[in-house]
Amino acid sequence: MKALVLAGGSGTRLRPITHTSAKQLVPVANKPVLFYGLEAIAEAGVREVGIVVGETAAEIKEVVGDGSAFGLEVTYIHQEAPKGLAHAVLISREYLGDDDFVMYLGDNFIIGGITELVTRFRSDRPAAQIMLTKVSDPSAFGIAELDVEGRVVGLEEKPENPKSDLALVGVYLFSPAVHEAVTRLKPSWRNELEITDAIQWLLDHGHRVESSLIDGYWKDTGNVTDMLEVNRLVLESVEPSVLGTVDETSELIGRVVIEPGVEVTGSRIIGPVIVGAGSQVRDSYIGPYTAVAGDCQVIDSEIEYSIVLRGASIRGVRRIEASLIGREVEVTPAPHVPKAHRLILGDHSKVQISQ
Ligand code: TTP
Repeated sequence: MKALVLAGGSGTRLRPITHTSAKQLVPVANKPVLFYGLEAIAEAGVREVGIVVGETAAEIKEVVGDGSAFGLEVTYIHQEAPKGLAHAVLISREYLGDDDFVMYLGDNFIIGGITELVTRFRSDRPAAQIMLTKVSDPSAFGIAELDVEGRVVGLEEKPENPKSDLALVGVYLFSPAVHEAVTRLKPSWRNELEITDAIQWLLDHGHRVESSLIDGYWKDTGNVTDMLEVNRLVLESVEPSVLGTVDETSELIGRVVIEPGVEVTGSRIIGPVIVGAGSQVRDSYIGPYTAVAGDCQVIDSEIEYSIVLRGASIRGVRRIEASLIGREVEVTPAPHVPKAHRLILGDHSKVQISQ
């Protein structure tokens, strides 16, 4: 069995971060989201992994390398444009050969790994095995329709009028039967070869498609809200440790990870929080569910429930919340513009004006 990890795409929902870097490398608790997927694949006992890359190929290759750090053998497959998930399968035909494979969307996050799913597929061997989860906004997802017995009868990609609230989770298992399906597809209204259409083709041609409802946690980290939510979840279980320096005027409360070379002075940090190696936190407050990457500066500022990428500098700003701050970004206060109050006050009025 092989794995096919999709790490191309255009990442429009995470712009402007994705103008300059791959969305699969946005860190969750200071580790790229893609790494969690690669670890889950290794844990499931799959060694050979094809990573589909697009415009951000160089960046992904630089951090993942040959995959040996994960116990994997990685081969890169170049997709000339993000023409859809089924297109990624189409161009990987040669690499995949006649092996079964697990397809994993590189920006998806699943708590609890994929070992159980892979084991079930290996013993049951349907043509395709999909995972479903209930969502509140089905028109943003690939949706499956089930019959009364729970069998998959139809699939739709981001439907305007969804027939169910069961979204396809970004992990799919396929037998080689899918290769014929992807050669038969026509581009959808959004000009992509849709994996939902490929699975529908399998259904229409008498192949067995199994599904299971996952009750565990799944998020597509394609937008900032979900990214922050996944970050929150992962930070909730980090092991606190202080490897940098924290002066006596500072206070750390709860699960706080201070990596080597970090200097914390005159600050209050309330976990769960991680501060990456070489960062400086001075006269500041860092509140729950914040991940500050390495080489950042947080000075005379307040921030919480946010992700700050490498090398960013935040000075004199209060207060930042629910934010995703890119690499080498500088956040500073705007110059003070004098404010004026325009008043029409009757005789004997008493007015309190806050300064
Ligand atoms: P999506 O999030 O569905 O697509 P996208 O990356 O184009 O993002 P957006 O909707 O914000 O524009 O992609 C899911 C994963 O699959 C993601 O890791 C990117 C990857 N992908 C490819 O590798 N090739 C493709 O052709 C597509 C569409 C996605």
